[in-house]
Amino acid sequence: MMELSRREALQWALVGGGTLLFPWTIAKPAFAQFSPQIPRFELPFKTPPVLNPVRSDRDTDYYEITLEKASVEILPGLTTEIWGYNGITPGPTIRQRGGTQSSGGKESVVRFINKLGMDAQGEEILTTTHLHGMASLPQYDGYAEDYIPYNFFKDYFYPNDRAATLWYHDHALDFTARNVYMGLAGMYIVEDEYELDLPLPKGEYDLPLILQDKQFAVDGSLIVDDNNQKSIYGDVMLVNGVPWPRLSVERRKYRFRILNASASRNYHLVLSRYQEAQSLGDEIIVIGSDGGLLGSPVFLKAPFQPLRVAMAERYEIIIDFSEYPLGSQVYLRNIGFTGTIDVDTRSHTLMRFDVVKNASDDPELPSVLRPVQPIDIPANVTYRKFRFERNNGQWKINNKTWSKERVDANPQPGDVEVWDLVNPGSGWVHPIHIHLIDMQMLWRNGLPPRPYERGWKDVFHLGEFETVRVVGRFGRRDESEFGEFIKGKFMMHCHNLVHEDHSMMTQFEVGEGGDDPITGDPAKPIEEMRPI
Ligand code: C2O
Ligand code: CU
Ligand code: CU
Repeated sequence: MMELSRREALQWALVGGGTLLFPWTIAKPAFAQFSPQIPRFELPFKTPPVLNPVRSDRDTDYYEITLEKASVEILPGLTTEIWGYNGITPGPTIRQRGGTQSSGGKESVVRFINKLGMDAQGEEILTTTHLHGMASLPQYDGYAEDYIPYNFFKDYFYPNDRAATLWYHDHALDFTARNVYMGLAGMYIVEDEYELDLPLPKGEYDLPLILQDKQFAVDGSLIVDDNNQKSIYGDVMLVNGVPWPRLSVERRKYRFRILNASASRNYHLVLSRYQEAQSLGDEIIVIGSDGGLLGSPVFLKAPFQPLRVAMAERYEIIIDFSEYPLGSQVYLRNIGFTGTIDVDTRSHTLMRFDVVKNASDDPELPSVLRPVQPIDIPANVTYRKFRFERNNGQWKINNKTWSKERVDANPQPGDVEVWDLVNPGSGWVHPIHIHLIDMQMLWRNGLPPRPYERGWKDVFHLGEFETVRVVGRFGRRDESEFGEFIKGKFMMHCHNLVHEDHSMMTQFEVGEGGDDPITGDPAKPIEEMRPI
């Protein structure tokens, strides 16, 4: 019996009347079945296409994205229905010149058109688009109940006030997990003059790594199983939508923008020269996090210093392939599984880099990136505490579920506040995302944050029995040209999308009298659409 491949095991199991017979499936019932098995590290690495604006004027770029279903080939030889931005998943990448207008920065308007139609239950698929990491006005922040119905569209305005790796994704109330898992996620990169002037890898050496796990039925369709409203996991690892890809690289530095766009999976990333085991000393250099560049590079050595990437976190890394001889194969592996159920060791290796070519040039990595000024904490600072826990079968914050009528914190514009995010229990981790502002982590259980967590962040990994203390200022990070404070209601939630949906989400309101997130600028029917 130990000799059976999984597929044979599955067939045997089905012979037994559809009941899964083997102890390993009983001990760990995370998957009712395994996805069709495919060879790993054979499909070529791809990046989502970069979207061109449909129009540009002096200070704004205008884009258009249609949400639609599509049948695509993800597993070779099978077709999968996805819900995609422009029919692809991940959606197209927007690479936007931002920063202050005096240094060439531009705002953007992105029109999202909902052509998704109906779901399998015959219900209309509602969507709302959140640009995660952008300080948008409430009516452009993808508020969970600010829907774009089927055959409606909405134009979202983005200030692009600072350089960072962001992402746009669906945020519809109760359905975010399904909608993102079906494909509604894409990367949005803001660059500014300061960052473009740094000698960091650019162009073909600056690549997204969007990490996701998905589960497929034998016919190739996606299985959406949230394990009784707990978590969605898959056994196929996708990088930029490709299962276990292989990328040919030159012997030089590359910049990778890592985004964890999985519904429920955390990653602990290392490099290894072995496919299924760990080699020693391989280095990942972290240069940026959610809110842009770190103050200086952070060097992590395998296997004892993995880079932890929780759901929705972004980390920008440098891998220096000149450390490897020509012909080397280097694997990106996931070696930690806190809060993740896993039965398939094939999912522990994500992709392979093949070192195939010497490089003609290779910039020196700067030792100073973008200084991160610690936020000044006034003596009379407002302090708040939020407990994230499960009780009576629901995910809650301070024992409450979501209500758009309730506001759980009301900082005034410009206020600094210290928040404790508390996970009092075990069995679950919660990456907590705060909309609108970038915050700084002060400590985790009284100990200093990991070095790569000491930048600007909007997601904080909250492990078992952990309290994370964060500080934030409810205004612009750079007020030199973006003077106005944003007021209004913004969400905070766990970014395990299943927890968020059921219903570990709340909201805070900055000041009073901000624009209403739902009535401020509602979606309009497609018949009213004029060229953007
Ligand atoms: Cu990335 Cu409120 O979400
Ligand atoms: Cu967000
Ligand atoms: Cu959670």
